[in-house]
Amino acid sequence: MDDIAHARSSALSSTPSSRARVLVVDDLSGNVNLATALLHREGYLVSTATNGIDALAAVARDHPDLVLMDVRMPGLDGFEACRALKSDPATRLIPVVLVTALQDADDRIRGIEAGADDFITKPFNAHELRARLRSLVRLKRYTDELDTADSVILSLALTIEARDPSTDGHCQRLAAYASALGHDLGLDGEAIAALQRGGFLHDIGKVGIPDRILLKPARLTADEYEVMKGHTNIGDRLCGELRSLRLVRPIVRHHHERLDGSGYPDGLKGDAIPLFAQIMGIVDVFDALTTERPYKPALSVARAYEELQIEVSHGWRSADLVEQFVRLSADNRLPRLDARGAIWLA
Ligand SMILES: [Fe+2]
Repeated sequence: MDDIAHARSSALSSTPSSRARVLVVDDLSGNVNLATALLHREGYLVSTATNGIDALAAVARDHPDLVLMDVRMPGLDGFEACRALKSDPATRLIPVVLVTALQDADDRIRGIEAGADDFITKPFNAHELRARLRSLVRLKRYTDELDTADSVILSLALTIEARDPSTDGHCQRLAAYASALGHDLGLDGEAIAALQRGGFLHDIGKVGIPDRILLKPARLTADEYEVMKGHTNIGDRLCGELRSLRLVRPIVRHHHERLDGSGYPDGLKGDAIPLFAQIMGIVDVFDALTTERPYKPALSVARAYEELQIEVSHGWRSADLVEQFVRLSADNRLPRLDARGAIWLA
């Protein structure tokens, strides 16, 4: 059997492919011992806790792949502990299986409301427990991989920025400006998160642009500019396979479009340009204008606003969005950042 076939078969075998860790939470030691024995037999590593508070500490300490938790415990009960885990971005993807008594139908409703991923009834049926845990642990592994792919892309974006010292802090500033404008427009949390990530990832496609063009300390020739424009298509392809970047991908592809259709790569017009991309386009231009580059000095904020208004008069930018962005600064709500992108408050 070759390595790939072996890895595939072990991933599908009845034993977890690498030892997954389960946190067992129950105030009754007899139940903890029973579950621990069962899980050890299945090849899991096991941590234990006897109440909700200890469970939250154990999750932070042991990073389990799954939490198997009784609902009835003194102090912080299983529902509350589950709710706390599911409301924390750092732990919300850890599957939580609540252990309920057979007769308590209301517990399931409360559990669903608390964000539980599954339920199992006492006394444990070993086959049922094995099947539930295996599928949830496998799902957790997939989300871990997605998470990892996501952070690889993010590191890549910062690496690209590091190639060009003149744009130091550009990504951080764009993330801060775009999310501030999104917030001001009343966009929801998911949209703000997309704008924040878009700030970091919008130019990810520059990974495919040669240094002689990307780092040229002078204005680009027409041919070089054509190559540089390709960063939008390259970035789009890089994000393409990651579901977690589905809201960021339009920013990556379309942040250089203009409302009159004179932008790139697709020459989209008006509302056909996704809103997040329009926002990123405005803050990208603003940051480029207010930052010193090898071939030009930095403009003042006031001068940069004038330039944005000129772009509005050319029909390139949305007058409403630019006005809203200018108002952020007028109301002293524009994030202030130093040259490296760190936020400081006036
Ligand atoms: Fe760009």
